Amino acid sequence: MPASSYNPALIRTHFPALQEADGRGQPLIFFDGPGGTQVTQSVIEAMSDYLSRRNANTHAAFLTSRRTDETLAAAHEALADFLNAPSPDEIVFGPNMTTLTFALSRALARTWHAGDEVIVTRLDHDANIAPWLALQEQGIVIRWLDFDPGDCTLQMKQLPDLLNERTRLVAVGGASNAVGTINPVAEIVRQAHAAGALVFVDAVHLAPHAAIDVQALDCDFLACSVYKFYGPHVGVLWGRYELLEQIPAYKVRPSDPHPPGKWMTGTQNHEGLAGATAAIDYLAWLGTTQGADMAASFPGFSGRRLALKRAMAVIVAYEQALFARLLSGLREIPGARVYGISDPARMVERTPTAAVRIAGTSPDELSQRLAAHGIATYAGHFYAVSVIERLGLSDKGGVLRIGISHYNTAAEVDQLLAILAD
Ligand SMILES: Cc1ncc(COP(=O)(O)O)c(C=O)c1O
Repeated sequence: MPASSYNPALIRTHFPALQEADGRGQPLIFFDGPGGTQVTQSVIEAMSDYLSRRNANTHAAFLTSRRTDETLAAAHEALADFLNAPSPDEIVFGPNMTTLTFALSRALARTWHAGDEVIVTRLDHDANIAPWLALQEQGIVIRWLDFDPGDCTLQMKQLPDLLNERTRLVAVGGASNAVGTINPVAEIVRQAHAAGALVFVDAVHLAPHAAIDVQALDCDFLACSVYKFYGPHVGVLWGRYELLEQIPAYKVRPSDPHPPGKWMTGTQNHEGLAGATAAIDYLAWLGTTQGADMAASFPGFSGRRLALKRAMAVIVAYEQALFARLLSGLREIPGARVYGISDPARMVERTPTAAVRIAGTSPDELSQRLAAHGIATYAGHFYAVSVIERLGLSDKGGVLRIGISHYNTAAEVDQLLAILAD
């Protein structure tokens, strides 16, 4: 993809936080995207507009309630487009991915029996492990799919031995929020379905870095979080309609007995949902104005779904170029080690999220040093406790995580590298 079709300077004007400076006038630099991204002016305005002009509870005859119903319906449509879901009624909103996953695991377990099995992976964030581990209380057996600590990819050869007629579900991440590995989800779904098991995908880290297509993945459930892709703190759960309809959700009696309402407990974060739609529309704008040359690549897609496909393709190409710059710079720093896939020929198998250690210093020291220069990164395990444990880094402070977003620039990468090299 020609780099000329993407204009980072224009993109950056959409994000007020990128114009911020610290006390000494240094512009802030955000490499904390895997923890949460900045939001666009349009997201801020949509949330403010909701609270100014639409604020009400749902399903009443008066104007602001009707506007609220429209706001929620628009958010279901927007996220259905983002995930290429067959229907907006398959989109469930909630406070965050973790809460939605606990709600789903508990409800699914009402249909399972002691001795039934769930497969989880050591490469996952704990939000896609703990909700399944909790089911051990009622006799559900947990089986672990390991990863190779060398390149941090799942040990797919183990999967056939873990699957059997008692397997009810495989819980797998779309990508690791610690080391960036993109997992072969479609292949996992194929094997799990052949064994009669469902598949739940945690796409929280993948969604900002790839076009998510639940129909192409053929998974059964997928969760993501809008605050990781330029929107507010809202969680999203997609599920096949028939499964969402059948599974006995924990709900209050008067609420809608059908999806998505039966899964959306209590009053939603309406202003957050207004912001979620604005985040999707920002991405669609990006795909329309910055990715015109990608149009032919997505036969069968039109309208906002096509624009979103183009947006993600443009974002991936740009982020990958910045990530290559980061990796080659890190290679020059004596004692620096990057965990996960580092072969330049395999970049499509990973997100632009680097897990780094530098000999003689701790990830926390590095993160603090960067923060003193106005640069945001995280150090530690980022709740991917099994990953950091498997890498033998639990008592060593984990790793420094440098996450590239589509609003970062080559100059920012160079600035970060200069501080790390110092
Ligand atoms: C891969 C991954 N899964 C799950 C979560 C949890 O998401 P939420 O904060 O929406 O519960 C995160 C948050 O960082 C994550 O990175």
